[in-house]
Amino acid sequence: MTIAVCPGSFDPVTKGHLDIIQRASKMFDKVIVLVIVNPDKHPTFTTEERVEMLRASVNIDNVTVDSYCGLLADYVRKVGATVIVKGLRATTDFEYEFQMALTNKKLAPFAETIFLITAAHNMYLSSSVVRQVGSFGGDISGFVPEQVREKIAGRLCPGKDHV
Ligand code: PNS
Repeated sequence: MTIAVCPGSFDPVTKGHLDIIQRASKMFDKVIVLVIVNPDKHPTFTTEERVEMLRASVNIDNVTVDSYCGLLADYVRKVGATVIVKGLRATTDFEYEFQMALTNKKLAPFAETIFLITAAHNMYLSSSVVRQVGSFGGDISGFVPEQVREKIAGRLCPGKDHV
């Protein structure tokens, strides 16, 4: 059985993330979507919120959601995963992802990082775009899963009516 881990900040989850998760679920027996907790970062959404929003958005039999504070390589070893799945939007993502993939290869040589090229209609999409548009009360319905749109919009721009 091949277990793949799909790690990220997911602050918050976007339709771009969902596309990568759905495609990965068709390629591997089991996919664990992993919210990585970085103690140096100050995310907009708490770890619990990010996990909850992913669980509300992803309803696929072989996909589960988890969170972890530490090295991705350690988590991958702990759960017996052999694949790390990342999405690539553009060449601008590449240098950073390349460095992470090589570092993870050194730390967990048994795991392969694979990159899924983003769907063309999601190329511009990122959690930071969602945060920026949402914080000014802009319409984020094209960017985030419908199941969590209201919650995300409400947290990003509390004064506004988001129904
Ligand atoms: O969604 P993001 O912010 O691009 O995700 C980046 C993430 C969380 C996948 C990456 O920062 C990560 O793997 N962090 C865990 C720490 C780690 O393992 N570092 C070593 C590899 S450079």
